[in-house]
Amino acid sequence: MDKLVIEGGVKLKGEVTISGAKNAVLPILAATLLTDEPCVIKGVPNLRDTVSMLKILRALGKNAEFEKGRVNVTRGKFHSHFAEYRLVSTMRASFCVLGPLLGKLKKAKVSLPGGCVIGVRPVDLHLKGISALGADISIDSGYVIARAGNLRGSYIYLGGIYGSSVLATDNVMMAAVLAKGKTTIESAACEPEVADLAEFLIKMGAKIKGHGTPVIEIEGVKHLHGAAHTIIPDRIEAGTMILAALITGGDILVKNVQYQHLGALIDKLSEAGAALEHRDGILRARGTRRLKPVNITTLPYPGFPTDMQAQMMSLMSVTPGISLITEKIYPDRFMHVAELNRMGAHIQREGPHAIVEGVKKLSGAPVMASDLRASAGLVLAGLSARGNTSISRIYHLERGYESIEEKLINLGAKVWREKE
Ligand code: UD1
Repeated sequence: MDKLVIEGGVKLKGEVTISGAKNAVLPILAATLLTDEPCVIKGVPNLRDTVSMLKILRALGKNAEFEKGRVNVTRGKFHSHFAEYRLVSTMRASFCVLGPLLGKLKKAKVSLPGGCVIGVRPVDLHLKGISALGADISIDSGYVIARAGNLRGSYIYLGGIYGSSVLATDNVMMAAVLAKGKTTIESAACEPEVADLAEFLIKMGAKIKGHGTPVIEIEGVKHLHGAAHTIIPDRIEAGTMILAALITGGDILVKNVQYQHLGALIDKLSEAGAALEHRDGILRARGTRRLKPVNITTLPYPGFPTDMQAQMMSLMSVTPGISLITEKIYPDRFMHVAELNRMGAHIQREGPHAIVEGVKKLSGAPVMASDLRASAGLVLAGLSARGNTSISRIYHLERGYESIEEKLINLGAKVWREKE
């Protein structure tokens, strides 16, 4: 296993180009199961999770080739409806093959994804939505077994106790596009990645309205055809790079940014007094000003993203004053708190809240990455800290950040990999 070592204290300078969005590409690849015709997906980030999804597509009978940011998916020699535990357990997004398998093959056997360090992560909303379309669902030996003679459109309220669900909305939308009649998904997730999936499905011939809003309407069609699509830029990678500039006192240009997808983050950073300028998909982030602490509550889109909580906590750790961070999506997503405290941060967790008392400087230390975004938070902390920080279990980072070391090195950071 590799660890990432960062010599902190370098002000980042230069340009960085944001890759395609992880959370858009995974369901979009799953959506290619809805047709036998060829699909071409462009702007695909080379991530561990992308590679995992391609393995699942192949196990389900597709040919899938990935070269230079482009995936070609074509019909293979067989169709399987069985997504086994070994493949699904590597990432939760693989569960979104359930909807397309059921839509296309009328049956699916998909392993339950299980929990992970950020919390329990149930799939009740996925199953509720898919049963509302007329599927018979049973759970046996850790597998969801779903069958449907014919899926029928339905009214589905998909809100849960933590609000809307991204992947449940994706799953239900993908099952509904080939169902007979009209489906209305109320309390649908509004994340740009869900809207991007809908755009791809529309290119395949689906009839969808209202995507990007809490009410999605789908008129089922008999058949979907092949399509080509370019993935939207990754707003979480963009946000992470912006914070990297701010936390190091650097000055960088972040290219391939969809500014409107970053509303809640930009708003909080403006409140903190950060210097940000934006023009034509390029954002300039300068860490030249002294920031003020801000309070943050994570919420479904367009609220502040839970996937930026750890990174924002790192920034607040070195912003003098007190900030309150409240996690409303995954109340246990605080694994990074103890690691940041090992670097000299003053953070106290109280249930779903973290009280951050900003310090002047963190000091480098050996720390452990627990999940993808916690790792990103630790990278930011390491970039700003005095001395060396070594982050173990760096494979988490590779799940969601394309060429992260290369991108940081290009910005002047002193970062390298070592064997554990
Ligand atoms: C997606 C993102 C992930 C992000 C998360 C929240 C992908 C591949 N992953 O994950 O990066 O952190 O959205 O923005 O897109 N819930 C239920 N029942 C369900 C499903 C979810 O109670 O059936 C709860 C979850 O436990 C959580 C909340 O709903 O508290 C939101 O989770 P959800 O939007 O489903 O997360 P994912 O789609 O798994």
